Amino acid sequence: MKPRPIIFDTDPGIDDAAAIVIAVRNKNLDVKLLSTVGANVEVEKTTMNALRLTELLEADIPVAKGCGEPLLKKLEPCPEIHGVTGMDGYDFPPVTRKPLDRHSVEVMREMIMESEEPITLVVIGTHTNIAILFRMYPEVKERIAEIVTMGGGLSGGNTNSTAEFNIYNDPHAAAAVFGSGVPITMLGLNVTNKAVIYREDAEKIDASGKEGHMLYSLFEHYRGGTLDAGLKIHDAVAVAYMLHPEMFTTEMLSVEIATEGVAAGTTVSDFRAVQRGEKTPNVNVCVDVDAEKFRQWFVGEFCGQTER
Ligand code: RIB
Ligand code: CA
Repeated sequence: MKPRPIIFDTDPGIDDAAAIVIAVRNKNLDVKLLSTVGANVEVEKTTMNALRLTELLEADIPVAKGCGEPLLKKLEPCPEIHGVTGMDGYDFPPVTRKPLDRHSVEVMREMIMESEEPITLVVIGTHTNIAILFRMYPEVKERIAEIVTMGGGLSGGNTNSTAEFNIYNDPHAAAAVFGSGVPITMLGLNVTNKAVIYREDAEKIDASGKEGHMLYSLFEHYRGGTLDAGLKIHDAVAVAYMLHPEMFTTEMLSVEIATEGVAAGTTVSDFRAVQRGEKTPNVNVCVDVDAEKFRQWFVGEFCGQTER
């Protein structure tokens, strides 16, 4: 079976790093580009981190720098979660590579329009680049197979009591993307908070080789949960969905983004309005995940128990 062509729009970011390493190593996915955005840390740092990952993976995958700031609001990075560099904990060798000299929106447009088959956009940071891509080049929309995004949630946030970080940091962009009409699958906190790994899993990955050791070193510094209580590798859940959708329960729901006020950044699913026929489901929402299967899959991607 031909590998699925994907483009990451990403803010590495320790959980982004896990998602990217797994996707690049898996023969069922064909990673065409790492488009970077400022979110976990500033875009200069997320771009450097993307280069560090492609260099460590010895992968011939271009990196293109995207937007540094959200459409309207001020970026609120979270170095307290990923470290000042965005990927604290591992001593990466000096980077010899450079990003492309064009903005990632331009590169994505070209790649999408020239691709022989529709490309999947895997959005694991804010949606800023994608909103601008759709506004500048609406013709790309019909050539996108699907947007698979880690963001939002159905029952509470992680940046405040209702908003998840990726949506919170650019609600206006998220609203534009969720309302774009492009098929979109949402992996929100309601599933990514369940899909965790533990110390014993991380130690197996550590022993699996260079890439596993790098991730284990990052996990020791990552503050998205803990290895003893459960480490939340949010962005890897988007890769798990693409490779093993059978692990998930999905439902077409109406999802709108609050863009102003105290609840800005909240993904709101108005199921009563849908029941009354007043709103139409627009997002394929993952409403549950088999957490044990996720855990086994995640370890298997490094220790060889799953088909890669
Ligand atoms: O809320 C979790 C999301 O925000 C993940 O994508 C993490 O990398 C941060 O970007
Ligand atoms: Ca991310």
